[in-house]
Amino acid sequence: MTDTVSKDRVLIFDTTLRDGEQSPGATMTHEEKLEIAGLLDDMGVDIIEAGFPIASEGDFRAVSEIARQSRNSTICGLARANLTDIDRCWEAVQHAKSPRIHTFIGTSPLHRAIPNLDMDQMAERIHDTVTHARNLCDNIQWSPMDATRTEWDYLCRVVEIAIKAGATTINIPDTVGYTAPRESADLIRRLIETVPGADDIIFATHCHNDLGMATANALAAVEGGARQIECTINGLGERAGNTALEEVVMALKVRGDIMPYETGVDSRKIMNISRRVATVSGFAVQFNKAIVGKNAFAHESGIHQDGMLKNAETFEIMRPEDVGLSETNLVMGKHSGRAALRAKLKDLGFELGDNQLKDVFVRFKELADRKKEVYDEDLIALVSAATDPA
Ligand code: KIV
Ligand code: ZN
Repeated sequence: MTDTVSKDRVLIFDTTLRDGEQSPGATMTHEEKLEIAGLLDDMGVDIIEAGFPIASEGDFRAVSEIARQSRNSTICGLARANLTDIDRCWEAVQHAKSPRIHTFIGTSPLHRAIPNLDMDQMAERIHDTVTHARNLCDNIQWSPMDATRTEWDYLCRVVEIAIKAGATTINIPDTVGYTAPRESADLIRRLIETVPGADDIIFATHCHNDLGMATANALAAVEGGARQIECTINGLGERAGNTALEEVVMALKVRGDIMPYETGVDSRKIMNISRRVATVSGFAVQFNKAIVGKNAFAHESGIHQDGMLKNAETFEIMRPEDVGLSETNLVMGKHSGRAALRAKLKDLGFELGDNQLKDVFVRFKELADRKKEVYDEDLIALVSAATDPA
């Protein structure tokens, strides 16, 4: 990463408390929501989507209090395309230093069929609701839900209407995780080139992970000109989840050489919030999850451990400290070699001579063949057995 490259700022919009909380079973208590919002605010997230105020009294109360307690982040609430939703949303977010209303409607043929609106009726609804929201608040985000399956001409038409009615951010959701990276980049690029007024607003990308491409699609959209990424901690979200905040933030940090964009997020706070979200949502993080999984900075194979001991960059592209972990974890198991055992024993306070180490190594390999992981206590017992004169 070269610091001389001038980087465009990409806004991070976190929707853990709205889209993330919509995952079946991920409901959080009021206090837990306030705590997560506080951590998001503290780590430098630009916009927190705190909930869907019309959905329930609880959601309304949570969004209102998060708005009141916010210090740095813009606080956003979600509203469908009707005046009652928008008014309720404003009632909740208006307490924030920087409030935002996010209103949306499904624009693809499948989604248009639900409210039974034809294209013209929907266009009129968009004009009226965005205008209403803009009369309440200066900061308006509008989303054509299922944008990636909406007819191109119609998408351009409705985006233009929303911009003219006062939207300041246009979010392009890949609601069902259907797009692919090249298409994701092209869609944003073509919208910016085609829609009048597009240069005056910010385009956002909101990707779902149904095909495992949410992070790639979000980063591609940034290449296409999006300057806001919508994401959640641990990729929490309905079905296969949303773009993971930790993945886009670290990808932009680690590969700034080819993606010259920066975020305002302090990546050293990632691990703590990841653990808190896993605990309060009840959604454990998979062991091999990028950035925040238990094994993301763990090495067991002898070759890897040996390489890591000589130079951490051999097998790590980022430092564990950069995501808030104190150190790399050398897991002792049957693939570990003598160098890793020597280093681990040194950490535990044992400096063995070559013969003693050889003896402990043989015992360690025997044990490792029987156990998945050899813990510190096991190693201490092995050293005592090997060095006990009796
Ligand atoms: O996935 C989606 O389309 C959404 C919208 C409400 C933005 O979450
Ligand atoms: Zn979504």
